Amino acid sequence: MKILGISGSPRRGGNTDFVLEEVLRSAEAEGADIELISIAGKTIYPCEACEFCAENKRCKHDDDVQGIYDKMLAADGIVMGAPVYFGNVPSQVKALIDRERVIWRQGKSLENKVGASVAVAWKWGHFNTLASLDGFMLTNKMMVVGLGGVPGLGLMVYAQKKDDAKNDEGTRENARNLGKRIVAAVKAVRKD
Ligand SMILES: Cc1cc2nc3c(=O)[nH]c(=O)nc-3n(C[C@H](O)[C@H](O)[C@H](O)COP(=O)(O)O)c2cc1C
Repeated sequence: MKILGISGSPRRGGNTDFVLEEVLRSAEAEGADIELISIAGKTIYPCEACEFCAENKRCKHDDDVQGIYDKMLAADGIVMGAPVYFGNVPSQVKALIDRERVIWRQGKSLENKVGASVAVAWKWGHFNTLASLDGFMLTNKMMVVGLGGVPGLGLMVYAQKKDDAKNDEGTRENARNLGKRIVAAVKAVRKD
């Protein structure tokens, strides 16, 4: 079982990276193979609705997006995390979401992969951000799971300075529980 984490934070070593690492460490302890990738330093151009992908089955931009999609397509479970920028995902993450149509132009699908979402904000914007990530996954027919209980929509993390999440045991516990939940969900979907 392969679980992929995608950190949507342009800031390396920040709270989003840490929370995803914690989720993945927990998934690994449950027996999963794990990998964390980051959008930091990657080139991710926005979709221009040019329809190049309709004819060519690839984007006209030869940037880092297809490599990210290839890793998603190879995973059984995907946890997407993003810091909140002005109440929603950073522009790089939105561009990654918008470029998704190239996958189905290629006849490929994320259907029935287990997905989970994490939003990291100082004070506000978690719900919009989680809705963007969950909306992406649900649109792609993924099976989205959350922690259950409170909060019910993805994992909301309150953090601002680099080590805030690391220093909060409640956040670490939620992250570990999300890792376990993803592995349990993949097992349930695959019936193994
Ligand atoms: C451009 C920018 C916009 C931000 N907008 C918000 C916001 O709308 N709401 C909020 O609570 N925090 C906001 N923040 C704070 C970040 O969400 C917070 O610092 C978070 O920990 C960043 O994640 P990281 O540690 O992974 O970089 C913003 C930060 C930046 C750089």
